[in-house]
Amino acid sequence: MSNVPTITIDGKQIEATPGKTILEVARENGIYIPSLCFYEGTKNPGACRVCAVEVDGARSLVAACVMPISPGMVVKTDTERVKQARKLVVELLWSSGDHNCLTCERNGDCELQDLVYRFGIEKPRFDIDPPGYGIEDTNTMIQRDLNKCILCGRCIRACNEIQINEVLDFSLRGSHAKVGPAFDADYINSECVFCGECVNSCPVGALTFKQARFMGRPWELKKVKTTCPYCGVGCQLDLNIHDGKIVKVTGNREYGQPNLGSLCVKGRFGIDFVNHPSRLKTPLIRIDGELREASWDEAIGYAAQKLGDIKKTHGADSVAGLCSARCTNEENYIFQKFMRAVVGTNNVDHCARL
Ligand code: FES
Repeated sequence: MSNVPTITIDGKQIEATPGKTILEVARENGIYIPSLCFYEGTKNPGACRVCAVEVDGARSLVAACVMPISPGMVVKTDTERVKQARKLVVELLWSSGDHNCLTCERNGDCELQDLVYRFGIEKPRFDIDPPGYGIEDTNTMIQRDLNKCILCGRCIRACNEIQINEVLDFSLRGSHAKVGPAFDADYINSECVFCGECVNSCPVGALTFKQARFMGRPWELKKVKTTCPYCGVGCQLDLNIHDGKIVKVTGNREYGQPNLGSLCVKGRFGIDFVNHPSRLKTPLIRIDGELREASWDEAIGYAAQKLGDIKKTHGADSVAGLCSARCTNEENYIFQKFMRAVVGTNNVDHCARL
């Protein structure tokens, strides 16, 4: 007899892996269950209850994101009772925050907005009563608007379990509960290292990338996959481009290793040099103490001639080469090969400092 537990979801018999949750098994089998607080790679969601499902024999609806499967379990994801419960959750979330999509940076890329639309909610049955927090505006990278926070805890788990920075947590209780650094500090006055993982994990507009505000709507941004230029780890990321300019940098978990979608402060927020007006884009040659622009052919020819002259006069070991941590491994390999095979010296090093 097989040890693989068989469960039934919406009448479909599924052989499931022990230890998985109902939500994981449903998704692996193409069965839709909504979620807000669930965040892949982190533990113990169960905060929002929008993933409610019926399980035969259970007294109440259960949260699919935390309920492990068990052999013979019968799950229903689409009953009227389930639909009404999910709708109620979304209405309550909507009414307890300032979810004004007109001014929200996440309009068109908001998981709460998607559920409101999916469940066909014209407006919540309850009075809209945002908590009235001020918008945190004390740093240049992350804007925090707790009036839009749905207390899903994804940013907390992303900070503590993915980046292991342990800066964010819940404070206070009940309707006063809020998310943030210890002692209710602003990000800038906390231990936050500005990796931006919390923003990446936020399903709504509570945390947004400040540099990207009003720079382009989500559907206008073209994502271009590339490798972070800052060090040799080779993190994969998406440049979000609008009108030929990089608006923001986002991680993409689908790209897998080496960074599994996470980024550091440099990869996340340090790409504005690309569009900086004083960025060097053309080779310069110094003639009589003055720098003048040159073509690549001219600059490379000039450097080759000068290196050749030095080598002829003083020997190959009079030349040394220093490459950069900002180059890829392949570029560094080519550089050392050039120094050894072409120039003829082992005087080659690399600024491995970041
Ligand atoms: Fe399951 Fe929020 S997604 S409780």
